[in-house]
Amino acid sequence: MAPNDILQNGVSQNGVSHNGISPNPDLNSVLSLANKISELAVLQTHQISVPQEEFLQAIQRLQIAVEGPAHYVARKRHEPNEYAATLLAIDSGVLQALVDNGRKPLSAQELAKKSKTDPLLITRFMRILTAIALFDEVDLDLYRSNEISEWLARPGQADGYRLIARWILPITSNISSLWKNDRLFQFPDESKGEHNPFIETFKTTQWDMLRKDSDLKRAFDSYMPIRRNGLRIPWHEIYPAATELDVQGYSEPHEPPLLVDVGGNTGYESASFKAANPHIKGRVVVQDLAETLNSSVAPEGVERQVYDCFTPQPIKGARAYFMKALLHDFDDAESRRLLRHTVDAMSPGSSLLIDDWVLPDANAPVAGGTYDIMMLMLLSGMERSENQWKALLESLGLEVKKIWRKDGVGEGVIESKKQ
Ligand SMILES: C[S@@+](CC[C@H](N)C(=O)[O-])C[C@H]1O[C@@H](n2cnc3c(N)ncnc32)[C@H](O)[C@@H]1O
Repeated sequence: MAPNDILQNGVSQNGVSHNGISPNPDLNSVLSLANKISELAVLQTHQISVPQEEFLQAIQRLQIAVEGPAHYVARKRHEPNEYAATLLAIDSGVLQALVDNGRKPLSAQELAKKSKTDPLLITRFMRILTAIALFDEVDLDLYRSNEISEWLARPGQADGYRLIARWILPITSNISSLWKNDRLFQFPDESKGEHNPFIETFKTTQWDMLRKDSDLKRAFDSYMPIRRNGLRIPWHEIYPAATELDVQGYSEPHEPPLLVDVGGNTGYESASFKAANPHIKGRVVVQDLAETLNSSVAPEGVERQVYDCFTPQPIKGARAYFMKALLHDFDDAESRRLLRHTVDAMSPGSSLLIDDWVLPDANAPVAGGTYDIMMLMLLSGMERSENQWKALLESLGLEVKKIWRKDGVGEGVIESKKQ
């Protein structure tokens, strides 16, 4: 680019303006991404389904192309401040007050009165939260809820924020120190005094912390059942359970169960499968640790059995063994140790159905990667890619028959049988 052009356009060859402030957008990328987004939108208006992930990825790439590296890095660096502002809106009661007021606005003054604080503080955190579309600013210091605030005000959602703030944020701020001191263990060996990042940070386990902190436990229990609401489809709709599991020979009380839900928590997932498929008569048995089963009531339609999945599986030859969000708590060595017991119990007709994230081997969406790092920090667990699942299951003599997926849903159902 000639010097004159630089003066006229304010842009240098490396895409940074001569005053060094504003990066020049890569206009070719901007145009081609904008075209792609518009094509995807047109397809949708013609009722042709477009994977949401593809749509979002194009929009995110467009934003990045427009903002350029300096703005991108600064935005990401400051995300914790958005988090703090969101927590202030939750804890001050501003979120609930605005949602309770319907879509009618409330001023900073009115909100400050309700939450017994300074209107200036309200104005300051609402400045961020209206900019990120959590609320609408309808006039100077006048705010209104929208569908995002309404979603956040649903039971359990704000508890999810609190839980992440209590667990993930402190581990995040400790991660550099763990790294520097050689204390960041991906697969810790407890016998050598190595621990996962949670224990390295808090000097206790998640479960012990929950036992000692009743507010945290309440937040945990309210967040867990709703954590993937609106983001996932039940496994029995991803995997065509209504037909695949509707088989003869598993419908009598003395016969092996149709479905064994290993680590099935209270049994709510299996109960929803039974409720959605009343024509399927076989028994469904939910297995979990005594401490989990004893603190809850059995939902309708399922039997429950205390079972530690690191010990021999007492139910042999069930039509299907089901594990949802269980193996992501464990690394491969531990997963193999627990899976071995279920594989030993499987007959040639049995299927193992795993409902978990199935990350694409390349170009995975950010959400899956986020969950993977969270599992590493909390439990030394991991979310797995397609190839990682296959390698794990094949190492146990299983053959992956099919990975059932639905567009736009991160979780899949991996169906495998004995080879
Ligand atoms: C992340 S939760 C998933 C629960 C349920 N499948 C779901 O998706 O909501 C993991 C479950 O595994 C259970 N669990 C952990 N260790 C276990 C073990 N050794 N044997 C059996 N269940 C276990 C926990 O009690 C918990 O209910």
